[in-house]
Amino acid sequence: MLAGKHIVLGITGGIAAYKAATLVRLLVKAGAEVQVVMTPNARQFITPVTLSTLSGKPVISEFFTANTGQWNSHVDLGLWADAMIVAPATASTIAKMATGVADNMLVTTYLSAKAPVFVAPAMDLDMMRHPSTVRNLELLRSYGNHIIEPAAGELASHLVGKGRMEEPENIVRVINDFFEQSAQLAGKRVLITAGPTVEKIDPVRFISNFSSGKMGFALADECARRGAQVTLVTGPVAINARQPGVERIDVVSADDMCKAVARHMADAQVVILCAAVADYKVAVMSEKKIKREKDEAPVLQLVKNPDIARMVGEQKRPGQVTVGFALETDNEEVNALGKMERKKLDMIVLNSLRDKGAGFQTHTNRVTIYHRNGDVIAGECKAKTEVAADIVEEIVKMLK
Ligand code: C5P
Repeated sequence: MLAGKHIVLGITGGIAAYKAATLVRLLVKAGAEVQVVMTPNARQFITPVTLSTLSGKPVISEFFTANTGQWNSHVDLGLWADAMIVAPATASTIAKMATGVADNMLVTTYLSAKAPVFVAPAMDLDMMRHPSTVRNLELLRSYGNHIIEPAAGELASHLVGKGRMEEPENIVRVINDFFEQSAQLAGKRVLITAGPTVEKIDPVRFISNFSSGKMGFALADECARRGAQVTLVTGPVAINARQPGVERIDVVSADDMCKAVARHMADAQVVILCAAVADYKVAVMSEKKIKREKDEAPVLQLVKNPDIARMVGEQKRPGQVTVGFALETDNEEVNALGKMERKKLDMIVLNSLRDKGAGFQTHTNRVTIYHRNGDVIAGECKAKTEVAADIVEEIVKMLK
């Protein structure tokens, strides 16, 4: 998968920089063209001569080449790249990338890069677990970068803990898998619902829930990253999809969401129902703000909203894959399996509000995936982006 790919390898100033030579070697052996960009400090740890020889290209570390005055265009480099890897990534470079401190060629190239970016941190264990590093890595993840987690073991300081840069062989495997995955859903259309729905009571008040849309948007991004054309029907949320290839349709109420799904479902090979649809709406929305009555509180008459997943199940055509979600507070498995059955889903993703780090608003989730064929996959608590990758992996298997 790496043959002919353009890789910008950013090297920063840490002891693990010695492993960058092996990384260049492996990438070149796999057929990639590698352009090394070093921070000035990285040159203290490994010589540019080694890296330019292995990559077959002059190493860039300054904005200008001193003897010719030639400008090294970070913009061109950012556009040339099919992927950028920062390995090793020090706490300082991670902080600069997180906050946009563009004071060297590596960070300016990063800011100009349109391609996926992989960051392999390497530092002492205390630096690694410092709240600022944790937060900066979280920021990098939230921008869509891929963090290649460091391993635990003996560090350069002789302390033992998490902070060793991932081995070059594994970094190459991650990049290779990434390119492999990017074609998995090529030519497929995926329809996703996300976020809450909002059911108006009057022009001011509404019935809704705490859904942030993060899980549905992570799924949309993951499907698009794997080459799918994604239609994302979302209730009101404060986030955006990061990947190009996601067509977003904004809706407010369950009725609107239902109409949008009905319009798009026939074209989709995969339908993922991730939205937290309000089960009820008021029978009649008041056109004017309901006034505070002197004596009695108003009684709201509620009626059922359409069950979009059920409609999708009923209209499902052969070969179409449908996936639902169940957010439960009790009797989790029984409820989830019942929903899979009633809504004729091929797969249901269960999350329980009883699990720490799962459910609404959080960046993380812990899910169990139930297949119609009886397979069950219980996951760990991880970033919603990683949970999305696990779910999409199962969908890809079903499509095969
Ligand atoms: O609300 P409930 O727990 O039944 O949701 C289970 C699944 O059904 C979810 O995938 C949800 O997106 C979907 N659903 C829907 N329309 C509804 C209610 C739920 O599509 N009105």
